[in-house]
Parts: sequence; structure tokens; C-alpha cells
Amino acid sequence: MAIVSPSLLAADFSALGKEIQTVASAGAEYIHIDVMDGEFVPNITVGPCVIAGVRPCTDAVFDVHLMIREPIRYVKEFVKSGADILTVHYEACSDPAETLRAIRSDGIRAAISIKPKTPPHLIRDLLPLCDMVLVMTVEPGFGGQKLIPETLDSIRETARMRNEIGAQFFIEADGGITAENAPALVRAGADVLVAGSAIFRAPDPAAVIRTMKNC
Ligand code: DX5
Ligand code: ZN
Repeated sequence: MAIVSPSLLAADFSALGKEIQTVASAGAEYIHIDVMDGEFVPNITVGPCVIAGVRPCTDAVFDVHLMIREPIRYVKEFVKSGADILTVHYEACSDPAETLRAIRSDGIRAAISIKPKTPPHLIRDLLPLCDMVLVMTVEPGFGGQKLIPETLDSIRETARMRNEIGAQFFIEADGGITAENAPALVRAGADVLVAGSAIFRAPDPAAVIRTMKNC
């Protein structure tokens, strides 16, 4: 069984609360919220006030993916907005360990993310500070891209390091995930599947969520 985390990037922004309730009642345990700053990635999305605005709509876990430079500056604001998991990019932090510690010390789960070309061994020493590792399966910045097959090796490598050090963190995969490629990601070691287009653009989002959960 996988945990499904629908990415709001592909949702109807004029009805965010309703979109969240639809996927949560279809069995999505997490809600993935992509925060982009137009610097770390060439796109701008939403910030803490939008997260706080939709927080009362659901009890689902808010899985907040920060694609921003030096996210340590905004940890407190995102915690206050209602994030349950805060993911920061290894490539965007001058001190990733300090950033992960800051998140945990505010009482929520901390996660590190790596871009497709970042080798997982670079985050090895950070793993004891992580509740989750997000392996990007596309270049971060935009929804609707095709999954890069080589990123499955990064998921396998991350799962191997997890075994080696006897850690418990979840592995999350994000980008280009569909009901068709989901089983291969779970076999590689992913516990949490993020999907935007495949869920929100489907005629029956609940059916896609069920299929992904059961793989
Ligand atoms: C991309 C984001 C993803 C994206 C996934 O930078 O991190 O979460 O929204 O969207 P799909 O599933 O459409 O690739
Ligand atoms: Zn994301």
C-alpha cells in the first residue's frame, strides 16, 4: 500500500477547498502543496497565506514542498500556516542540517529533497535528521512533465541507504507519476506518491487514487 499525495498544482485554484475535500474523501492521506519562488525554480506559486486559508478544509496531512532558496528563513511561517511536513531542497540550502533541525524543533516532520541529477549519497549524513526523503522524478518547477526513468535508481539507492543505517524515514517520489508507472516506483522503494495531473485531470480522480494506493 502506498500513501497518495495529490499535488494541488494541477487543481482548480478557484475551488481549492472543494478540490482538497474531493481527493481527501477519495482516500488521499496527504495533500501536496508546491511552493515556488521564481528563483530556485523558474515558476511562482503559493505561500503561507494560501496554506493557512485552506487548512480548515481537511484533517489530511499537509505535505508542503518548498522549492525556494534558503528556506530556513521561512520555516516558522510555514509551520504557523499549518504544514505537517516541510520538505526543503538539498540544493537550495547553504546549511541543510541546520534547516532540517529548525523544522523538527518547531514540532513538525522534516524532509529533504533531491533533484534528478543530485546523487543520493550526498544526503547520506543528513538522513538521521529526516522523516522523509523526496526524490524528484522530474526537474522541479512545473507539473505535467514526463517521469525521468533514471530517477528510479535514486529511489533504489535511497532505500538501500535507509536499510544500511536502519532508519525509518519515508521515501516520496514526485513528478510525472501515473497509475501506470506507480507500481514500478513502489517496487523501487517509494512509500509516498505525489501526483498532480494524473489525479486532477482525470475524469475520475477517486479511481486513480485507489489504483495508486493499492500498488
Ligand atoms: C514539480 C512539483 C510536483 C508537480 C507534480 O516541481 O514538485 O509536485 O506538481 O505534478 P505532475 O504529477 O503533474 O507531474
Ligand atoms: Zn512537489
